[in-house]
Order: sequence, then structure tokens, then C-alpha cells
Amino acid sequence: METPDSLSAKFEGSFAYFTVKDRLPQILTKVIDTVHRNKNKFLEEYGVEGIEAEKKAISFFSKLRNEMQTDKPILPLTDDQPDTHIWNRYLDYQETLLGKGEQPSWFRSPWLYVECYLYRRVQEGLLSSPPICKFDVFREAKNESFFQSQPAMLALCTDLHELKRNMESLSRDQSRKEFYRLLQVSLWGNKCDLSISGGLDNSQKSSILSSLESLQPFILVDNMESLWNILSKSRDGSTEKDSRIRVDIVLDNAGFELVTDFVLADAILSLKLVSEVHFHGKCFPWFVSDTTRHDFNWTVRQCLAANHKWMSKCGQTWKENLEKGCWVYHENMFWTLPHEYCSMADTAPDLYTELQKSDLILFKGDLNYRKLTGDRKWDFTVPFSQALTTFHPAPLCSIRTLKADVQVGLRPGIGEQLTASEPDWMISGKYGVIQFSPTV
Ligand code: F6P
Ligand code: MG
Repeated sequence: METPDSLSAKFEGSFAYFTVKDRLPQILTKVIDTVHRNKNKFLEEYGVEGIEAEKKAISFFSKLRNEMQTDKPILPLTDDQPDTHIWNRYLDYQETLLGKGEQPSWFRSPWLYVECYLYRRVQEGLLSSPPICKFDVFREAKNESFFQSQPAMLALCTDLHELKRNMESLSRDQSRKEFYRLLQVSLWGNKCDLSISGGLDNSQKSSILSSLESLQPFILVDNMESLWNILSKSRDGSTEKDSRIRVDIVLDNAGFELVTDFVLADAILSLKLVSEVHFHGKCFPWFVSDTTRHDFNWTVRQCLAANHKWMSKCGQTWKENLEKGCWVYHENMFWTLPHEYCSMADTAPDLYTELQKSDLILFKGDLNYRKLTGDRKWDFTVPFSQALTTFHPAPLCSIRTLKADVQVGLRPGIGEQLTASEPDWMISGKYGVIQFSPTV
């Protein structure tokens, strides 16, 4: 079967078109506003140089917004970061995909590429505005979303404490149910990203635990059993491999979603389903709410410092897990490149080799799904393993709520049925998948 077309804003009326036309300019406007609101902070920290930098960054971002809105050609990056040449090579490659004389541009190129490029250009804008190069334009929004989700997080931490208290007496079947429950919490945690809401508040206000049953019909692909089969085998000692079982979580959003991922990682460790959890985060601020190293450590510290016994206990355990090395945080610039994951083995062989050490890789969120499947117009029934093309480093699973119009691996008729009854089913975040692919 031929690889289908990439989603792109060139298809008028598509979600990609709407994103490039409205949502991305809205995000850039918020970026400009944030930099401007922090003018006094820059003045206090750096004096007049800080003010100059604020002006320079704002003018960069305004120009960028204009380039996007008027469908100007995509420009090569001008900074000298370790990934600069990779981005510029990718731009050359995009050019070769077009007809002679055509140039990649915001509305004509693949959506995945231009959306990633926007966040890299924001980074370029800051890097070219010293001394505010390290300013995270999305941090305020991320922190705010963390604090607004506090009640839901407290409920989750209390629930985890109860689970751990009763752990010794759990039957195998009860352990499986607990695992399924926390996988679903981590799935619905993915609703809370700040990119889909254009940077506006999208936090989890109520406890998700009591809604799990009513949300179950919205899980379109449920491969939880395949995950349990991998992890429980290891617990029963029936694997041929040595007994160290490693799960990798390719993180998505900070805030509530990250806490749901921590809770899942804590539970699978405590249930002795795994011995190591490896987390993968972003090297710079990305898609508004994605987790950077700073967000990761900040979240552990905030939980530890919380004025709530079980949340603080969670923070303490998570800090110790990191110190003991049974939780490991990784960074790789590949995660902030525009490449589909099928090119990881060539573009980032070090990362591919690292992921091959895993017994199970969990890819959180919508953007990871888009990169796994190449963000293409696949038929709904194409098997997930086929849409991954050559990307099979280890058994893997996507845990994602649907916020972009790409979906594979559905039973015949389901996609068509949903399109007829709910035209926005692929972008509303109402539906989710826990979709597994074995190593092929
Ligand atoms: O704006 C496009 C997009 O990729 C959407 O598909 C999605 O809403 C969002 O950005 C990122 O979602 P997530 O945080 O789940 O990867
Ligand atoms: Mg995200």
C-alpha cells in the first residue's frame, strides 16, 4: 500500500488549515503578550539590556506571525544550535518534495512540519534576544494549569496512597484492574493540553477517578490487555529475559497529565510490574504545555512541598525514585525535531538504540501519535503496526486523546459512523485510544 498524503493546511477547511490560519497565530499573540507583560521582570534582572531584549523578541515574533499569516516561504534557521543544520536539511528535503520553483510555505507544506517549525522559531527568537534567551514563554501557563488542577491531583495522590496501603493483599486480578484504572487516568489526563485550547486554561477541575466508567465507551481502541500481558509475565517470572523490566514513557504535557503519568509510573513500580521507568522530555518549550526538564523537576518539588499529606508523600517517593535510579529522566533533541518517528533510526540512532532497551514504550498524547503515524491521511482501518512503517524499536503503545484528524486501527465502519454522527470526533479530545503494536 502506498503511503498516503501528509495532512496540510493546503486542504482548505481541514483542521490543519484552521490551525495554521487561526490557532497558531493566536498562540503567537499570547507569546508576544507574555513577553511584554514580563518587561519589568527583565528590567529588574538585566537593566536596560533586558528592555532591549524584550523589544527585539517582540519584533521577531510579530514578524513571524506575519510570515505565517501571509503564507511566506519557510526560512532557514540562523542560530547555531546542535539541531540547526538538521532543521535546515529538512527544509531542503521539503523543497525536493515540491515541484520545480516551488518553495515550502506555511499553508502548503505538511502541517506536522510547519507546526513544529513554529515552536523552533519561537526558540530562535529568544536565542537571538540575549539576555532573555532562556525565558520559557509558556511557563506561566503551565504553572497556572498545575495549580488549577490541584483538587484533581490531590484526589489522585490520595487514591495512590490507598492503593499502596493495600498492595500486599491484592490478588493478581485486582492488580490488573488497578493497572487498567491508572492507565485510563493517564489517558484522560491527555485532554488537558494548552495547545489545543490556544494557550487558554484547560485544566482538570474535578477528580477523574469517578468518571472512568462513564468514559469507557469513548476509548475507541483498548489494548490494555496486551500491556498487562507483557508486564505481568515479567512479574510471574515467566520471561526469558533477566528480571529487570523497563518501561519508557515518552512524556507529553506538564500539569495534570504529568501527575497522572507519575502516578502510573509509581503504581507499576510498586505493583512490581516493572523495575525501571525511563521518562523522555523536551529540550526546550514545545507545543505550549509539553514537559521540559525544568517542568519535570518543578512538578516533583511542588508535590513534595504541598500542604497535603498524601501529595507530599508522593513527591517524596518520586524524588527518591529519581535518586535511586529506578526513575530516569532523558532528553534528546529528536523529540523537538519535525521528523516522523520512522526516520528516528537514521536521524537519531542513539535514541533508537536507547529505546530498543525497553520492554514497553508508552507514547503519551496527540503529537506523538501524529509523529508515529507520519500525520497522514490513512484509512481508519489500516493496522497501527503498518502506519508505523519502519518504527519498531520495542513493543509500544500510544495513549492519546484524539485532537488531530489522523486515526488508524479502527474496526471497519466505526470511523465512518462517527464522522456522520459527530463531525469533530477526531479533534474534540472526547475520544481516546490505548493502542498497542508488538515489535514486528
Ligand atoms: O495543534 C495541533 C496539535 O498537535 C493537536 O493535534 C493537539 O491538540 C495539540 O497540538 C497537542 O496535543 P498533545 O499535547 O496531546 O500532543
Ligand atoms: Mg502536548
